[in-house]
Amino acid sequence: MKTAVVYFSGTGNTAKMAEAVLTGAQSVAGIDAEIHAIEGKDIVEGRFTNEALLASLDAADAIIFGSPTYMGGPAAQFKAFADATASRWFGQGWKDKLAAGFTVSNSPSGDKLGTLQYFQILAAQHGMLWVTLGLLPNIEPPGLNRLGSFGGAMGQAGQLELSDLDKATGRVLGERVASVALKLKA
Ligand SMILES: Cc1cc2nc3c(=O)[nH]c(=O)nc-3n(C[C@H](O)[C@H](O)[C@H](O)COP(=O)(O)O)c2cc1C
Repeated sequence: MKTAVVYFSGTGNTAKMAEAVLTGAQSVAGIDAEIHAIEGKDIVEGRFTNEALLASLDAADAIIFGSPTYMGGPAAQFKAFADATASRWFGQGWKDKLAAGFTVSNSPSGDKLGTLQYFQILAAQHGMLWVTLGLLPNIEPPGLNRLGSFGGAMGQAGQLELSDLDKATGRVLGERVASVALKLKA
């Protein structure tokens, strides 16, 4: 069973969250987990061109999407990647794969929900099965899911460093997706 994390990060904060999600997925026995960064050089004249990355995702049972929240939604680089997945949409090649997502932004809210909801729509267009975070909010004292998200994992960073709590929340997401993948296989 293969779980893939695919993300864009401009200044490295979402990359840290992505590594945490990967660590969570890797902690599940029987799961082969891999990580892919969307890079600016993959985008030529506005179009995402890294076919090898898309081919790796074709072979995954679960895909976890990650992007910083920029202007209330996913970064343009992630959107270029998402648009390129239309090549898989025509034949519904990713149907019944698991999907999940995470985002990082500077403000406690910062409209991160807009990014997670975009990921959910992307997954739905592909006929994928969305896996939620599955954690109750733990706000006082601050704990896992301190930002109180249900649809996916959220992290706050920019003026602040990404906290260990947010990284731990990311690990929970990765572990949950990998565990659900194994349950479905069984
Ligand atoms: C173009 C741009 C737009 C941004 N828009 C938002 C936003 O809507 N909400 C927010 O809280 N932070 C916003 N930020 C801050 C980033 O989300 C934050 O710095 C994040 O940690 C960046 O992640 P990265 O290091 O993975 O690129 C924005 C930053 C940039 C560069």
